[in-house]
Amino acid sequence: MKIIITENYDEMSIKAARMVSSQITLKNNSVLGLATGSTPEGMYRELINMYNNKEISFNDIITFNLDEYYNLEKDNTESYDYFMRKNLFNHIDINKKNIHIPNGMTEDIDYECINYDNMIKSKGGIDMQILGIGGNGHIGFNEPNINFEATTHLVNLTEDTIEANSRFFDSIEEVPTKAISMGVKTIMNSRKIILLANGKGKAEAIYNAVKGKITPTHPASVLQLHNDVTLILDKEAAALL
Ligand code: GLP
Repeated sequence: MKIIITENYDEMSIKAARMVSSQITLKNNSVLGLATGSTPEGMYRELINMYNNKEISFNDIITFNLDEYYNLEKDNTESYDYFMRKNLFNHIDINKKNIHIPNGMTEDIDYECINYDNMIKSKGGIDMQILGIGGNGHIGFNEPNINFEATTHLVNLTEDTIEANSRFFDSIEEVPTKAISMGVKTIMNSRKIILLANGKGKAEAIYNAVKGKITPTHPASVLQLHNDVTLILDKEAAALL
């Protein structure tokens, strides 16, 4: 694992955006795996700036998002579909047909999940996957005690995650309790992985991911087995390393 420790959130975001822009420069039709959450918002802002400054184009880029809430309409302001449009897609030249986000409103979960993995394969696999990390060590929505062999699947969110994500909803009752998420295996099949984390609330999860035992109890610890992972952390998230 390569670990980059930055002074603060802004520096973390800029470094991450530069890694993504280098990937795009090297391969203009890269397949990017994208994450939601507060952590990558700054990186998306930087990428939009780079696009506005004509440094990069997303015209041939293909994206696959990590996850989506189950049974939440795309136009709900808390859906990950809405998040991606608001924080990135509406501001760049990406071709809409190249955007993939699990359909949380599907009536056929099994088909949706198998088809999502098949679509990733049919595009040649993910060149660069961006990840955040949950306070409990989840990646995507792969909660503790996940099967490391899982591909895209329907997950039950833990109480911790529901509570953490309730900050975005009017009340905790409105937080979906299930989501469709790329599995650990899907994530591990990416050629490069960039994990971002900031703030002291992530310090323990980062410690477990980097120095802890490789165990499904801490899903992010599986990343120790991947040969091209870069963690970009602010000082607070890196405090226990
Ligand atoms: C969410 C997402 C993850 C994200 C994590 C951390 O539940 N499914 O992809 O990495 O929680 O979110 P945040 O960046 O807001 O701390």
